[in-house]
Amino acid sequence: MASIGLFYGTDTGNTEQVSEKIKSLIQEIKPDIQVDLIEIYQRKAADMAQYDFLIIGQPTWYDGELQGDWEEFIPEFEAIDFTGKQLAFFGLGDQYGYATYFCDAIGVYADMAENQGGTLHGFTSALDYEHDFSKAQRGDQFVGLCLDIDNQDDLTDDRINRWIPEVLASFGM
Ligand SMILES: Cc1cc2nc3c(=O)[nH]c(=O)nc-3n(C[C@H](O)[C@H](O)[C@H](O)COP(=O)(O)O)c2cc1C
Repeated sequence: MASIGLFYGTDTGNTEQVSEKIKSLIQEIKPDIQVDLIEIYQRKAADMAQYDFLIIGQPTWYDGELQGDWEEFIPEFEAIDFTGKQLAFFGLGDQYGYATYFCDAIGVYADMAENQGGTLHGFTSALDYEHDFSKAQRGDQFVGLCLDIDNQDDLTDDRINRWIPEVLASFGM
């Protein structure tokens, strides 16, 4: 059975809530895929390195900072050889309150994953948002899916429902 490691970190629960939705959605559309939902808090490199398919969720905090558990995980992440691994990132942020740091965290991690041999999937258009700058942006695209529960929670389900089938297809699942 194909399996996906769905890793998330959260301070106030939004990324956890989205992660649970993503797991349910994958199970609904592809019941044969196993999704392991794992909070990143106190995890080690080996917990992540066992997966060939990864979906990674991170909020951005305090003017472009990583969420604390993801900050602590950096040395573990840096120890992983991502060659042959397929990754898709989703980020939580606030495009109006933090318009120059919108979803920065997934940009930082996506760059590291790629530099360490990983293949990124699930890029989305950045033109649907009103931010000014994001480390997660390359040209007109985000390196994953950005969600803004603070301002556009009504769009969250639609964004996930569009994104997940694209990611699974891109994963070859
Ligand atoms: C003090 C504070 C700082 C924040 N800084 C950023 C930021 O720099 N960039 C961003 O996109 N969102 C920022 N946000 C918005 C959070 O990322 C957003 O509320 C997110 O949904 C929180 O996710 P969590 O509940 O999983 O921790 C900030 C929110 C607060 C309250």
